[in-house]
Amino acid sequence: MHLSINGRSLPVAPAGSTTLLDLLRDTLGLVGAKRACDRGECGACTVLVDGRAVYACLTLAHQCEGRDVRTVEGLGTTDAPHPLQEAFAAEDAAQCGFCTPGQLMAAAALLAECPDPTDAEIVAAMSGNLCRCGTYPKIVRAVRRAAAALRDTRPDVSIGAASGAPNRAPNGANGGAAHG
Ligand code: FES
Ligand code: FES
Repeated sequence: MHLSINGRSLPVAPAGSTTLLDLLRDTLGLVGAKRACDRGECGACTVLVDGRAVYACLTLAHQCEGRDVRTVEGLGTTDAPHPLQEAFAAEDAAQCGFCTPGQLMAAAALLAECPDPTDAEIVAAMSGNLCRCGTYPKIVRAVRRAAAALRDTRPDVSIGAASGAPNRAPNGANGGAAHG
């Protein structure tokens, strides 16, 4: 089968039980999505599937056939960071940084759907992403800053289509974890 990862069609042959997270990290070497709980509780593995934030640890690779998968590696580069990455740096929103790729992807999904979110909308959209370092206020400020920057510079923020809601299964089967 072929999977579309960050706009590239890649030949892969995952077992039926292989998760998208396993495929990304162990087969494709895309280690931006992090494995922490590996059971849908933390959001460290968040990626976009057809523009929607999902937990890659709860998503089977085969479920992604014919869909558009985006990882943090497709968000921006060191030389050309995405406004969200610039905003996270400017607001010092990453402490250890382990949760940050997932936070960025959840935020990207939100801003693609809602270019001018309220703080409450940001908190709700990010509620499936835990941060052990407790950077939540800075994350909210960073998302707000990125939203403003994106509105100023270009109307289309999307790296996919929509939905920042913390329901992270491709078919809406699971709910996101709440912030602790
Ligand atoms: S590693 Fe997937 S939700 Fe924690
Ligand atoms: S910055 Fe350390 S877990 Fe979030």
